[in-house]
Amino acid sequence: MEARLQELQQEALAKIEAASELKELNDVRVAYLGKKGPITEVLRGMGQLSAEERPRMGALVNEVREAIQSRLEEKVAQLEQAVIEQKLAAETIDVTLPGRPVQTGSHHPLTAVIEEIEDLFIGMGYEIAEGPEVEKDYYNFEALNLPKGHPARDMQDSFYITDEVLLRTHTSPVQARTMEKQGGKGPIKIICPGKVYRRDDDDATHSHQFMQIEGLVIDKNIRMSDLKGTLQTFAKKMFGDEREIRLRPSFFPFTEPSVEMDISCMMCHGKGCGTCKGTGWIEILGAGMVHPNVLRMAGYDPAEYQGFAFGMGPERIAMLKYGVDDIRHFYTNDVRFLQQFKRA
Ligand code: DAH
Repeated sequence: MEARLQELQQEALAKIEAASELKELNDVRVAYLGKKGPITEVLRGMGQLSAEERPRMGALVNEVREAIQSRLEEKVAQLEQAVIEQKLAAETIDVTLPGRPVQTGSHHPLTAVIEEIEDLFIGMGYEIAEGPEVEKDYYNFEALNLPKGHPARDMQDSFYITDEVLLRTHTSPVQARTMEKQGGKGPIKIICPGKVYRRDDDDATHSHQFMQIEGLVIDKNIRMSDLKGTLQTFAKKMFGDEREIRLRPSFFPFTEPSVEMDISCMMCHGKGCGTCKGTGWIEILGAGMVHPNVLRMAGYDPAEYQGFAFGMGPERIAMLKYGVDDIRHFYTNDVRFLQQFKRA
């Protein structure tokens, strides 16, 4: 009996050693340790043994079972580890491979310029104000000292919706609305960016829809020198510290006196070139001291409050800043154009 057990143990261990798959090991376990296996059979034969021999033989059977069992477990663990290692080797990731590029969008150049101008004026204490694009004739013209039939209305060819409603031709109506809301009391310091519309044929320098940024300051003791200082700061921050400004007399119905501001040409530094048409100066915006009629119509007493205003076109500023030669590029949105303005 003892010899038979030794034999079974050696047989089983040899098979375990030879096994190369988990399934084979399971077969060995069922065959040798299972209820119908040879070791169980040996146990059944114990009844014929003498009382002294029985415990010794019992212990021996247990030893054999345990030896097979523990060797089996070791081998299972070995094979499982091998499977994991094989998998890891097969799935190796090359971390040096370049990643797949992710397509990102970018700020529209007009948005970027408008935000830059907004930031600049917010830094000087201005707030942003907005108004409707579908506007009343009253705010677009009348409240700005442009009564019906005024010849200066022709300067801004308009899209009328009804006799009294139109697409705003400029952002100046936001001035009139803001002053009126204040009820003729207290200071105002705003800039108003937004879309405006004119009945123009589109070409390299005209668009039937474009952007404007309006500025308005109302307070006691506001003078022309305040306007000049503000415009100077704006020009230098926007176009470089070495920019000079020049104010030329002009006419707007809502300001008196009115001016147009030029900056010294950033291409030729005043010598004269194609960009400045040989003059050394580039026109940037219109401005002036708020007309007493405009103040009065909004409820302000011109003897107590004064103000200055200015209006500019961000397209023109973006065209100068980035050397864009056609305003239509801003509205046709060719990605090859837009991608050039990706911010780092
Ligand atoms: N609204 C004028 C335009 O569209 C621009 C302008 C000029 C606005 C002078 C102003 C200003 O506030 O003071 O042509």
